[in-house]
Amino acid sequence: MARKDPPLLVRGDAVTDLPALAAQAPANATLVVYHTSMLYQLADPQAFLDTVRALPGHWVAVESPTLVNAGQELPSPPSEALHNVLTLDGEPLAWVRGHGESLTWFGTLRSRDGQRIH
Ligand SMILES: C[S@@+](CC[C@H](N)C(=O)[O-])C[C@H]1O[C@@H](n2cnc3c(N)ncnc32)[C@H](O)[C@@H]1O
Repeated sequence: MARKDPPLLVRGDAVTDLPALAAQAPANATLVVYHTSMLYQLADPQAFLDTVRALPGHWVAVESPTLVNAGQELPSPPSEALHNVLTLDGEPLAWVRGHGESLTWFGTLRSRDGQRIH
């Protein structure tokens, strides 16, 4: 599928280059910014969080809870093993092990009109 319809791959910095890249998304598309296990490598994770929160569309992150969920109450993870937290637009939804090895749902997923989906 990727060979038939190759994705656009852009080398750049998640903080300084993201806004310009996001602005290239087609006007009739919903922008979704997704990242996993990246925040801990950034010199200034807060700068990235401020940048992504200022963008239109949706933001899906699978990151360390200490980096992405500062101050939010979370249920205990399912085991002592290292877990990231899946968030949608900053709302915590699930515990995730590295590379999607496991996913333990705890959140409430809602549609745009506020209906509970999961
Ligand atoms: C631990 S890897 C995670 C890779 C993959 N997302 C995954 O979950 O397997 C961290 C990733 O963050 C990227 N990264 C680090 N600093 C970055 C920056 N300033 N801007 C964009 N990406 C960055 C690295 O290139 C690397 O691909």
